[in-house]
Amino acid sequence: MRWMYQSRWSLAVASLALISALSAQHISSLTAADAVADPALERTRKQVRMLDDLYKTAVVLITEHYVDKDTDLPAGSAALALFDAMKKKGWHEVRLVDATGKPLTDSNAPKDAFEKGAIAAMKAGKPWHEEVTTKDGKKYLRAATPVPVVMKKCVMCHSHYADAKKDEAIGSLMYVLPVE
Ligand code: HEC
Repeated sequence: MRWMYQSRWSLAVASLALISALSAQHISSLTAADAVADPALERTRKQVRMLDDLYKTAVVLITEHYVDKDTDLPAGSAALALFDAMKKKGWHEVRLVDATGKPLTDSNAPKDAFEKGAIAAMKAGKPWHEEVTTKDGKKYLRAATPVPVVMKKCVMCHSHYADAKKDEAIGSLMYVLPVE
């Protein structure tokens, strides 16, 4: 039994390493000049990077340790409930959006011009896509990060992920945070 646990853990660790590599990539794409130009915007970007690591790590760990059959509650569905709670509490908005053209739920397809542009950027291998918008006189950062097929288990419920190339984005997390 022991080896089984070890191999499951090494898979989880490998998935986490992939996520960290993706995150490290987008950190390096932000220049120091940006931070000097607008410290509030840079703080907001940093908050997105922190949330992105938190949500992706949680989904991978839950899938790894609690999701064994296609009838189990998907970590993605649990994450949607979590996103909803964060929105209701007024912290931020985040959506799990499909990049394959075949979402399991239609409402997870990209919606507006920003989301469509972000999906095109993720498909082209970009680690980050952003836009600063203003609503009711308040500034918001919209940012998107890629979701690759991090583990074989994802294919259990999304069979078409088997066609995805290594590291190809099959989805994206799309954030909206106030710039404060
Ligand atoms: C147990 C089945 C199951 C597993 C395993 C699973 N998912 Fe999902 N996934 C779902 C369901 C169901 C939805 C739709 C959730 C909703 O909209 O309420 C979904 C939604 C998604 C979406 C949004 C697009 C769409 O198809 O609706 C993405 C992206 C996604 N999952 C990625 C992943 C990744 C990456 C993994 C592996 C870490 C994974 N899923 C593992 C069942 C699963």
